[in-house]
Amino acid sequence: MKVSCSVVVFALVFHFFLVTGSRSPPPSDSVIIIGAGMSGIMAAKTLEEAGYKDYIILEADSRIGGRVHKGQVDGNTVEMGANWLFSGGPKSSPAHEIAKKIKLRTLYSDYGNLSSNIYKQGGGLYEKHVVESAFKVADARQEFGTNLSKILSSKKGGDDDISILGSQRLFKQVPKGPLDLAVDYFYNDFEEAEPTRISSLKNTFPRQLMEDFGEDSYFVADPRGFETVVHYIANQFLSHNNNKITDPRLQLKKVRDSIFISYSI
Ligand SMILES: Cc1cc2nc3c(=O)[nH]c(=O)nc-3n(C[C@H](O)[C@H](O)[C@H](O)COP(=O)(O)OP(=O)(O)OC[C@H]3O[C@@H](n4cnc5c(N)ncnc54)[C@H](O)[C@@H]3O)c2cc1C
Ligand SMILES: *[C@@H]1O[C@H](CO)[C@@H](O)[C@H](O)[C@H]1NC(C)=O
Ligand SMILES: *[C@@H]1O[C@H](CO)[C@@H](O)[C@H](O)[C@H]1NC(C)=O
Repeated sequence: MKVSCSVVVFALVFHFFLVTGSRSPPPSDSVIIIGAGMSGIMAAKTLEEAGYKDYIILEADSRIGGRVHKGQVDGNTVEMGANWLFSGGPKSSPAHEIAKKIKLRTLYSDYGNLSSNIYKQGGGLYEKHVVESAFKVADARQEFGTNLSKILSSKKGGDDDISILGSQRLFKQVPKGPLDLAVDYFYNDFEEAEPTRISSLKNTFPRQLMEDFGEDSYFVADPRGFETVVHYIANQFLSHNNNKITDPRLQLKKVRDSIFISYSI
């Protein structure tokens, strides 16, 4: 079913024909934000802070937060999406600042100590110095990849790209053997949720989140969930009652399949 709404913007009339799942009165909003994940909520907050209140947020799901989402396993909260907060970098992470304010329980992930905790295939731990030298090689590989990515991302690079594995081949340091592969898994596959032969170098290195906010990782282990951070932001500007958002500008279970825009003068 089609619903149309008109918005008057500088003598132009925009008609948005929106395909919706339910009948609703023609909205007169000038801005439509699709998705109430961290990006959508921040987009709305940015508009709000600029004094602009004429927007709606359409969310397909029955909750806000998107990929920041908790689940329950045996009565325990388990994060299904984002789990770590970062710090120690040149910028401070707004999410981490909020987490501290609301006293979200976090645990420092001491990846430096991985060198004392990698097991051999036949059992027993690798010696610390053996793992440390594997990390050194991996660090150089990542640095080479980052350098190459910067060249590819410059004007000179145009549309060229390469996989992370491709950059490791160019560096003539392709991880081989169980230890190198375990370290490489930790550096790349785990972070990207994809093997290095698939991950785009240009879109991966440098990892902006860690570049900006730092590499000190804090694991969120709080029954309230990481999503409390998104709720905290949303509650700053969307009307709510008992932690439930009641603001009519947030419309849940609204899937936007398509938006046709036409205008007449
Ligand atoms: C397993 C996993 C682990 C992660 N770990 C971390 C981590 O440790 N630290 C970290 O900082 N980040 C992590 N991330 C990344 C982080 O979760 C995301 O970058 C962030 O949540 C993305 O927010 P977003 O608003 O851009 O997108 P999303 O959260 O995906 O939000 C998009 C929203 O739009 C809605 N939507 C989509 N299409 C439509 C439509 N047509 N109509 C209406 N609604 C629509 C969706 O339902 C969703 O709610 C992880 C992600 C995953 C999946
Ligand atoms: C590092 O790991 C070893 C082996 O598991 C452990 O004995 C040690 O306490 C850890 N150190 C820190 C600082 O966590
Ligand atoms: C990466 O670039 C920096 C700065 O140009 C250089 O000093 C460094 O040696 C390069 N690293 C690798 C592994 O190529």
